[in-house]
Amino acid sequence: MSARIILVWCYVFVLCCANKTLKFPDGFRFGVATAAYQVEGGWNASGKGENIWDRLTHSYPDLITDHSTGDVACDSYDLWNTDIKLLKYLNVDYYRFSLSWSRLLPSGFATHVNPDGVRYYNNLIDGLLSNGIAPVVTLYHWDLPQPLQDLGGWTNPLIADYFEDFARVAFGLFGDRVKAWITINEPASICVGTYENGEGAPAYVESPGIGLYLCGKTILLAHAKAYRLYDNEFRHTQYGIVGITIDSIWAEPKTNSTVDVIAAEREMQFGLGWWANPIFSASGDYPEIMKVRIAENSKRENFTKSRLPALNPSEVKLIQGTFDFFGLNHYHTWLIADHEYQYNRSSYQKDKGTLGTQNPDWKPTPEIVPWGFRKLLNWVKTQYNNPLVVVTENGFGDAGGLKDRNRVIFLYGFMKALLLSILEDNCNVKGYTVWSIMDNMEWRSGFTVKFGLFDVNFTDPRRQRTPKASAEFYRHVIQTRVLPE
Ligand code: NOJ
Repeated sequence: MSARIILVWCYVFVLCCANKTLKFPDGFRFGVATAAYQVEGGWNASGKGENIWDRLTHSYPDLITDHSTGDVACDSYDLWNTDIKLLKYLNVDYYRFSLSWSRLLPSGFATHVNPDGVRYYNNLIDGLLSNGIAPVVTLYHWDLPQPLQDLGGWTNPLIADYFEDFARVAFGLFGDRVKAWITINEPASICVGTYENGEGAPAYVESPGIGLYLCGKTILLAHAKAYRLYDNEFRHTQYGIVGITIDSIWAEPKTNSTVDVIAAEREMQFGLGWWANPIFSASGDYPEIMKVRIAENSKRENFTKSRLPALNPSEVKLIQGTFDFFGLNHYHTWLIADHEYQYNRSSYQKDKGTLGTQNPDWKPTPEIVPWGFRKLLNWVKTQYNNPLVVVTENGFGDAGGLKDRNRVIFLYGFMKALLLSILEDNCNVKGYTVWSIMDNMEWRSGFTVKFGLFDVNFTDPRRQRTPKASAEFYRHVIQTRVLPE
């Protein structure tokens, strides 16, 4: 063989390898996500009831950075058809959105179903399907009906039953067409945000170290009840899949000292294991380290029992194994150091005994840490026996603008990390979802932080949507199923 032929063969080989390396496997799915409160608007349209974010933004505007509300937001309540055009433009395989509980059940209870709410979601679901886009529906994305909050919200175990009633209504109305369900979005954000740091609605900072664990148990039971309900009453006719979406940082030890390495693992167990252990692990219970530390701290604080409410054997049985997939939201990597707090107050921070910081030197910004994502996917694989993972959210927040270079860098890096976790580490990841298709109401940050692939002009009554550079980039990846070199 002449040197030239050898050279050509080498070139072809390199090309093939390169393509192989950066090509998504057949059957891999791409999507984008939103949540009802963040995009819909129509806060009191056609019989919708009040939820905890309506109450928070209306009663305590100072708690929202720009004093905004989700009253109109992206107006997807009226512009759902426009949204479908954007989805079509991107050519996504699926659209993840959430149902507004109080749009469907204005009082929160399944005593009355709001026909206009049903019509709205039917239109959206039918519109998606007729455009070849699969609906992936989240039942609960943080907008609890206010009447249920008035009963104690997620600290009241009965809310799990009301959630089950809501799930029954949703499966019954839409399950003939919706084949993928997410029960609850980001339980840690719900419980820590509401009962520990006050970042969520209703922004309580009460009973620190107690309310959040009560909330956690109700959430686990609510998820499990909805899953079992689907199994018992709907699966045999609807053939869908049901899972929960858990959010997690990657906790990188700040130094390689043993205490920091142990602290980083503890952070993972408190953040992710709290939810995933009862559902996905062989023990079916909270992580041992949580049980031990919270019991010890509770004792030290003169509580007669642990602030972490136990899961009894029948609850373990109910919760364990309630998954068809593992929904994972991921945004950030933190450096974690061991940090024992002063024992003068109860709190999640103290129970964890860790301190997190970001490394300001990470380039181009401390938010863009794709290697942390790959480590997280591997951690999930190892801890929970390589479950089928769908990345249900990943994205980049900035101050806005159509030339969103950092978002492109972020998406490229994270998709590459994900792909390598499949190809080189055998992680069982089957889908990737960008948060979000468009700029929207970013909770306590209002409209000051933007995550969209499409810009939304919030001063325009028509809420004009315009593609950013990242929309073109993601569209190209979806079209080719390959990450450009
Ligand atoms: C997580 C939440 O699910 C979503 O509602 C939020 O907007 C994004 N992360 C970005 O913060």
